[in-house]
Amino acid sequence: MRLADKVAMVTGGGSGIGRGIVRCMAGEGADIVIPDIQAANAARVADEVKGLGRRALALECDVTRQADIDRIVSKALETFGRLDILVNNAGVASRPGMPFTNNTEADWDQVFAVNVKSIFLLAKALTPHFMERRQGRIINIASIAGPISAVTMPPYSVSKMGVITFTRILAKELAPHNVTVNALCPGVLWTDFWQGLAAHIAETNPAFKGMTPRQVFDKRVKDLIPMGREQTPEDIGWAAVFLASDQARNITGQALNVDGGTVMH
Ligand SMILES: NC(=O)c1ccc[n+]([C@@H]2O[C@H](COP(=O)([O-])OP(=O)(O)OC[C@H]3O[C@@H](n4cnc5c(N)ncnc54)[C@H](O)[C@@H]3O)[C@@H](O)[C@H]2O)c1
Repeated sequence: MRLADKVAMVTGGGSGIGRGIVRCMAGEGADIVIPDIQAANAARVADEVKGLGRRALALECDVTRQADIDRIVSKALETFGRLDILVNNAGVASRPGMPFTNNTEADWDQVFAVNVKSIFLLAKALTPHFMERRQGRIINIASIAGPISAVTMPPYSVSKMGVITFTRILAKELAPHNVTVNALCPGVLWTDFWQGLAAHIAETNPAFKGMTPRQVFDKRVKDLIPMGREQTPEDIGWAAVFLASDQARNITGQALNVDGGTVMH
């Protein structure tokens, strides 16, 4: 039980990678707050957490809105008395660019609001609490799309590099307060995120004409990942458990790639 009696908030925990992180953390003894814009999904995952014998709180929330952040942070603190771990997982893909001129101002604004601004809002809301207690863990879900400068979705790739840079800035600033801040960079996972993307590519990209979304995805995995296999939400969840645990107390400012060897540095 590496997270016994810790309290974690996992944004976007109602599906995909977020749900994997929630389940791994609950399995290691944590109680979980699940803010998600899709309230029904958050409620379903909260029931799964209760089934694992831990407490859970599902909250409807748009992480781009200051008022929602204020509401979920006070509700979480009122319910559990404290928060030990913040996982900024909620994120969205941008509409594919390629060429980049296909993207609109709205594409850039939306992706930056959900993927980057939300981390600022949540870190700002919770940092005083972490500093007061001289402990805290922040884990930001970035993506290999940042480090590999993926051309398929320019606003998305740039936003995820922004997540890594902001992770390092927060890590430097919060290190003297015994708060660690790290990023995880998942590779390629068959979640709602990639299912939507693969369907769009199959429909619009002549190079993938006649392929099913799953075939598009399998080709991406084969072309990109040295280990030749996709990642699972649990792969990301176990890495998050490690970074949140006492075993990782001296690891901060890092971006850990969980990607079958795609990015090596
Ligand atoms: N799937 C992949 O291959 C992959 C690879 C690298 C990184 N990621 C990142 O992992 C994270 C999770 O993605 P996923 O693959 O699980 O996708 P997903 O679409 O299954 O999950 C995203 C979750 O975020 C929630 N969300 C979206 N916008 C929100 C908002 N404004 N406020 C609150 N919640 C919101 C959604 O409701 C959903 O539950 C994202 O940050 C994504 O960029 C995914």
